Amino acid sequence: MNYETILVEKRDKVAVLTINRPDKLNSLSSKVHEEGVAALEELRKDDSVRVVVITGAGEKSFIAGADISEFAGQTPVTQRNLFHEKTLFNTIDSFPKPVIAMVNGFCLGGGNELALACDIRTASENARFAQPEINLGIICGGGGTQRLTRLIGEGRAMEMILTGDMIDASKALQYGLVNHVFTQEELETKTLELAAKIAEKAPIALQMSKEAVKFASRSNLDEGLRREVDLFAICFSTEDKTEGVSAFLEKRKPNFQGK
Ligand code: COA
Repeated sequence: MNYETILVEKRDKVAVLTINRPDKLNSLSSKVHEEGVAALEELRKDDSVRVVVITGAGEKSFIAGADISEFAGQTPVTQRNLFHEKTLFNTIDSFPKPVIAMVNGFCLGGGNELALACDIRTASENARFAQPEINLGIICGGGGTQRLTRLIGEGRAMEMILTGDMIDASKALQYGLVNHVFTQEELETKTLELAAKIAEKAPIALQMSKEAVKFASRSNLDEGLRREVDLFAICFSTEDKTEGVSAFLEKRKPNFQGK
């Protein structure tokens, strides 16, 4: 499908989804949410796609937050309904395949919330991160207060959210907000290498791994350990488990089919 605000490109088993509104620093309009959700739905159904990388067009900005111009016309009810509907944040959060945010430049507000909904974040040295909602007299609405706090801890999240200040890529790395920082030139190659490595793994085991890891911050330890064993046991029903074990015993590389 063709989209106005989204580009989708397939590189072998990896799909790159680019938010394409560089003149508005790739801010998240309702059209971006609508088209992004539709694009992810296509990628979810496409068995040839094993990993998705999300980025922003151009080198200046990953995503500079929600499209602030759309806030002006919203009432509490319309804004609430919009965020209760299918947003990119919710869709990424429940996406069954691994999703990597490749952050090139400004990663602000809803942009940071979108990156937080992804499984792994890589960034270029020029990336800048903030939750600047406070400067507009509002708070995060796309999961920022919850996911940022769980990822980097309450004190650090609190300072970012209360000040709205930007942090640079090296501080984001130190905080654990991003997994890797690369030079601007290397960002795409290194991120796609990481994506390609994950794309070779068994798809059902990847899905179960995601579910189990995400459950860790949403449950207590006993429930989490029980859920892990259940998901581990489900893997024993797959052809990929037979292939993985056989390949190990036969000293060859496994060829996982996602079955
Ligand atoms: N929503 C809507 N439009 C946005 C936007 C946003 N979140 N962020 C940037 N834009 C638009 C600007 O209005 C401008 O459009 P114009 O050329 O039609 O005037 C264009 O993108 C370029 O941005 P500009 O502000 O000129 O770039 P800059 O380099 O001077 O500043 C930022 C960059 C990121 C510091 C600045 O754009 C900014 O603060 N953006 C808002 C960030 C924010 O608060 N996000 C959270 C929203 S909850």
